[in-house]
Amino acid sequence: MDSFADQSVQSLFEPFEFGRRRLRNRVAMAPMTRRQSPGGVPGADVAAYYRRRAEGGVGLIITEGTTINHPGANGYPSVPTFYGERALAGWQFVAEAVHAAGGAIIPQLWHVGRARRPGTEPDPAVPGYGPMAIEEDGKVVVKAMTHTDIQDVVAAFAQAARDAERIGFDGVELHGAHGYLLDAFLWAGSNQREDEYGGSLEKRLRFSLEVVRAVRAAVRPDFPVVFRFSQWKPEDYAARIAATPEELGRILKPLADAGVDIFHASTRRFWDVAFAGSPDTLAAWARRLSGKPTIAVGSVGLDKPFTPRDAAPGGDPSVLTGHLAALEAGRKRGDFDLIAVGRALLSEPEWPNKVQQGRRDDIVPFSQEALARLVV
Ligand SMILES: Cc1cc2nc3c(=O)[nH]c(=O)nc-3n(C[C@H](O)[C@H](O)[C@H](O)COP(=O)(O)O)c2cc1C
Repeated sequence: MDSFADQSVQSLFEPFEFGRRRLRNRVAMAPMTRRQSPGGVPGADVAAYYRRRAEGGVGLIITEGTTINHPGANGYPSVPTFYGERALAGWQFVAEAVHAAGGAIIPQLWHVGRARRPGTEPDPAVPGYGPMAIEEDGKVVVKAMTHTDIQDVVAAFAQAARDAERIGFDGVELHGAHGYLLDAFLWAGSNQREDEYGGSLEKRLRFSLEVVRAVRAAVRPDFPVVFRFSQWKPEDYAARIAATPEELGRILKPLADAGVDIFHASTRRFWDVAFAGSPDTLAAWARRLSGKPTIAVGSVGLDKPFTPRDAAPGGDPSVLTGHLAALEAGRKRGDFDLIAVGRALLSEPEWPNKVQQGRRDDIVPFSQEALARLVV
């Protein structure tokens, strides 16, 4: 294939050492919830969906969020669980299918925290869990977590990581972003606890640190632990966990010391400047501050807005060409190690191969229909 390789994107297609696996390139699939796993069990269709992206050339697949074994972990119908014999057998099949196609795969381990509302599966009586109680119409819909609740969740993350290793995954990603449980503790806006899990930045970080330490201890030393974080939440795009690079360092460095191997800086546009006064992106800052490799993400190849606020510059097809040039430059500068691609891979499972082979005009552009289907 090398003789047909597009040299202008060469650095995106260099291998990357990832635990015991060598990724064939720097293209990751971003985690995307699909709600196609009734009863929490990922079936053969889920395996086919991920295998198709591996066949299309993705180096590392990060699965959709999959819930840890805690009663409040899930927030939505038909989300796959990462516990229970049937679900884990399904996931093992998924991992084997991706490996057979030459890809690597890690599950994104998820606890939705205060996004859950009573009435949600698997047990509708169970409320959401968060740093603080939330009441709606005089009823508690989110429970303020006790220390026992916190220890239960720490243990559930560790068990999921242990299971991921046992059934053949290549690492794990911990979902510490987007306002879900760990992020809700990190963000001062949702955490005004007065115990050792709230107050100062160091105290708000404590829950995530305990999870990372427990996960690290549960798996072999060379089993990669990825931590996804963000400076936004679906309900508030300006909700930042760190106001300055210095604060971000006080979050990421301890997480790295606790055992995180790679940081996944979730941004809506990979090129966005992270802090005023510097041209650097969030992934670039994370790399510098933590000393660890990073994954960048956000709107790669898209000229369609995620929400009306997200319009990317330019129009198709120059958008993709512009993004690829920016990515190549960013890789060469050392801003990030892997680039995650989300929506573009929904409509075009062969996105990496077509990019590598310079077949840009053949790429099926992202469409709202692909987003609505999420099944093929
Ligand atoms: C349908 C859909 C589902 C998503 N589900 C998740 C998820 O489960 N976990 C997560 O961390 N991010 C999730 N995201 C965010 C993506 O991982 C990614 O960061 C975002 O789509 C930006 O990348 P893109 O512009 O390449 O799509 C989701 C995005 C979409 C479009």
